[in-house]
Amino acid sequence: MRMTLTLFGAFILACLTSPAYAQSQRGQSTADVDLAVRLVEVQANPKLTQELFKAGQQLATICASCHGDGGNSVKPDVPNLAGQNPAYLLEQLRQFADGRRRNEFMEGMIKVLKSDEKIAVVLFFSRQGVIGNKAAANPALLVKGKDIYTRNCWRCHAQDGHGNGTFARIAGQQPVYLNAALKRYRLGTGTRTNALMAANTKLLSDADIDAVVAYVAAMD
Ligand code: HEC
Ligand code: HEC
Repeated sequence: MRMTLTLFGAFILACLTSPAYAQSQRGQSTADVDLAVRLVEVQANPKLTQELFKAGQQLATICASCHGDGGNSVKPDVPNLAGQNPAYLLEQLRQFADGRRRNEFMEGMIKVLKSDEKIAVVLFFSRQGVIGNKAAANPALLVKGKDIYTRNCWRCHAQDGHGNGTFARIAGQQPVYLNAALKRYRLGTGTRTNALMAANTKLLSDADIDAVVAYVAAMD
């Protein structure tokens, strides 16, 4: 852990001292920068996007020990970040920072990232290809899962599970992580709560969750 944080500090230093970073931080170094507004601003500026993408690529090597190379996780309880909607990723970083979403490690890590570093790392991951889970699931489970998905989930997460500018991509996500996420929303204990997801999970049984997870995890 100490080693990871030391490495992380070195990356942050490298970013802080790079001219691209200094330029990108002009007027943006306060903690209360609105991340959503800043993301739109960065995306409208191709040069800045490219600079932050490069800084994000460096920062991402720190995340790789858990989230995998290019954000394709190889740990069942750690989510993929590859191909994820950047606005959603930023919102989650904000939730870890303000305590609406709890995870000890992520909370600590997010505190040391400056606003533009969050934008940078999120931009990098959102532009990585998704490898997905190709493991064959039980066909009956997939049929049931598809039925649940097409009655409900697609309205926000889209037919193909890729989400959109607002909603998360869930296609190809790690199944153990998906299962835990859905059960937390259903339980609403405070580790992770969201009114829309609470409403959309409260009628699901554990068996329903197993089915919809099998279907979603197998989506491309
Ligand atoms: C020590 C392991 C570890 C490291 C290193 C790590 N994370 Fe995480 N991250 C996790 C875990 C575990 C979760 C899932 C937490 C939960 O279940 O709510 C997570 C969740 C996230 C999420 C939410 C994803 C979603 O689909 O909702 C984001 C965004 C994220 N991490 C970004 C990062 C970034 C950026 C870095 C590097 C700067 C990083 N993480 C480094 C373990 C880690
Ligand atoms: C009315 C819109 C809506 C519907 C319908 C909906 N969701 Fe969501 N979903 C959301 C929102 C908003 C979030 C982000 C919540 C947050 O910030 O934690 C989310 C988050 C998630 C996540 C967490 C993603 C991650 O990377 O951590 C999963 C998994 C998920 N939804 C699965 C489903 C499934 C499965 C269904 C159908 C049973 C469903 N959702 C129906 C709006 C919706």
